[in-house]
Amino acid sequence: MSPSWSTSSHVSVLLEETMKALAVQPGGRYIDCTLGGGGHALSILERSSPGGQLLGVDADPEAIKAARTRLEAYQDSTLIVNENFANLQAICIKYDFVPVHGILFDLGLSSLQLNGDGRGFSFQREASLDMRFNPSQDITAADIVNNSFEAELAYLIRTYGEEGYSRCIARHIVRERPIKSTLHLARTIERAIGRRRGKIHPATKTFQALRIVVNRELENLEVALKQAIDLLGPEGRLVVISYHSLEDRIVKRFLQQEAKGCICPPGTPVCICGHKARLRLINKRVITPSESEIELNPRSRSARLRAAERVITEDDCDATAEVASVFAEVEARAWRRPALLKKLEMVFLAA
Ligand SMILES: C[S@@+](CC[C@H](N)C(=O)[O-])C[C@H]1O[C@@H](n2cnc3c(N)ncnc32)[C@H](O)[C@@H]1O
Repeated sequence: MSPSWSTSSHVSVLLEETMKALAVQPGGRYIDCTLGGGGHALSILERSSPGGQLLGVDADPEAIKAARTRLEAYQDSTLIVNENFANLQAICIKYDFVPVHGILFDLGLSSLQLNGDGRGFSFQREASLDMRFNPSQDITAADIVNNSFEAELAYLIRTYGEEGYSRCIARHIVRERPIKSTLHLARTIERAIGRRRGKIHPATKTFQALRIVVNRELENLEVALKQAIDLLGPEGRLVVISYHSLEDRIVKRFLQQEAKGCICPPGTPVCICGHKARLRLINKRVITPSESEIELNPRSRSARLRAAERVITEDDCDATAEVASVFAEVEARAWRRPALLKKLEMVFLAA
């Protein structure tokens, strides 16, 4: 582990607000899908003790090492997995970690990654243009920068960086290729659109776009949120901290959709969608860091926390009640009856 991977260099964002939103309780089971330096995870373990359990997931093997060290005191109650949270359901089934009381996503990248040597996430440090959370991923930022068509590059920078000067940046990149390093790319962008505009560095948005594309961040988030809902037990909490509007939009839409009953188009005379609310929003408004937190940790300034609670639908109850009643019959030693076996099979297929 490089010395820059000291766990103290990442300050967990909205820590108290996250614990409150997760409603961490002694003996609870929690999943931290973005373990990072293990800051949120440590707080969950402290507050769920005695008897708490934590499944920690991170795509980055370096983060896994850092978190293992930080959570050493709780190793008996912690399961740490180097995986992508896009596979959340499979991970939970593999380790028999269902249902859970709370699931946390603290998205994006940690200060450990931003400041880590050779990762390529920062436009202020010389490194190869990598940006992969996990070195086993196929595509690096250099592949995208050096091999995309100009129009494709402009599209990616505009869509995932929300950069208004995307075409100009793409044109300069293509002229300058091959781009060999982070600073080479940052200088090329500066030459394209000038030095600082306001508070942010001109390369900020392009670097964000490349990181999102390399790690398929938005696709993975959408997939994982859908899986998370099915892993929560009754009243289990889902908490997501995002750091830019693209992520936050996905989270907001997902939570709002899942908190609604019927989602038929307006004017539909009779409900045909059959959609049932599976979540209840905990906060009507998004939670953001206080001024004092931003002062202590400027990286937190763009953070937005949203949280929801699992509600059990009539369908869930019907299925559970029916399964329970069939099991009761089976327990009553009636299991040899073919009709009952057929009924059991149907309940499972329907559930
Ligand atoms: C902001 S940091 C988390 C910091 C952590 N909450 C703490 O308090 O130390 C985000 C972490 O999520 C991880 N990550 C991002 N996308 C991921 C994905 N799809 N699957 C697994 N981990 C992911 C990153 O590698 C990074 O370590």
